[in-house]
Amino acid sequence: MRSKHKILILGPQGSGKGTQANILANKLGIPALSMGALLRDAAGKGGETGEEIARIQKIGALVPDEVAGEIFLARINERDAENGYIIDGYPRNEAQYKVYVSLDTPTAVIVITVPHDVSVQRLHDRAMKEGRVDDTVDVITRRLQIYHDETQPMISHFHEHGIVHEVDGVGTVEEVAERIGKIFL
Ligand code: AP5
Repeated sequence: MRSKHKILILGPQGSGKGTQANILANKLGIPALSMGALLRDAAGKGGETGEEIARIQKIGALVPDEVAGEIFLARINERDAENGYIIDGYPRNEAQYKVYVSLDTPTAVIVITVPHDVSVQRLHDRAMKEGRVDDTVDVITRRLQIYHDETQPMISHFHEHGIVHEVDGVGTVEEVAERIGKIFL
């Protein structure tokens, strides 16, 4: 039997994690999960936790690790993830890495790389079109700083497992999707 795909997609803000997770999920026939989107859904439900998540997302900080871990666990236990999943944006720091590896074992980690100015330009363009509350100059800067300070160092753990694929994220959506698709031929 073919082993289940459990694929993590990481990369700086605007690298195309969410975009590429959806394309790859369609190709592999498994769901694309987005930690950012799951948290926005939880924020939309309101209540004390929802309001706290909304406040934290708005300033571009990370929501508490326990909250992210609980949401991740609940989502991978849903029926559509029985045969594997792709998740973008989780784990993002050392504490989340420890929770993740205690819950599951990834089969591949894709790290999409783009230069800083490409990240900023794409998020600026998205702000013009969609008006996401965290796509302001100050908040983009904070999100990118957290990626460099917390997420990048964490990725070194996955290098030790020998499952990291670095993919150049510069180019059209289709070009990047082709680079990622080749990993799973
Ligand atoms: P999240 O929603 O995950 O945002 P992010 O990490 O800042 O990532 P982005 O959505 O900005 O970028 P992306 O790399 O997914 O690119 P995308 O495909 O969207 O997280 C939001 C917040 O939630 C966090 O700040 C935090 O508060 C919280 N959170 C999330 N995960 C957490 C965790 N693990 N722990 C704690 N808190 C957490 O593309 C971006 C834009 O570029 C789009 O407009 C797209 O159309 C465009 N684009 C994509 N690819 C290309 C291309 N090749 N060429 C041109 N344009 C492109």
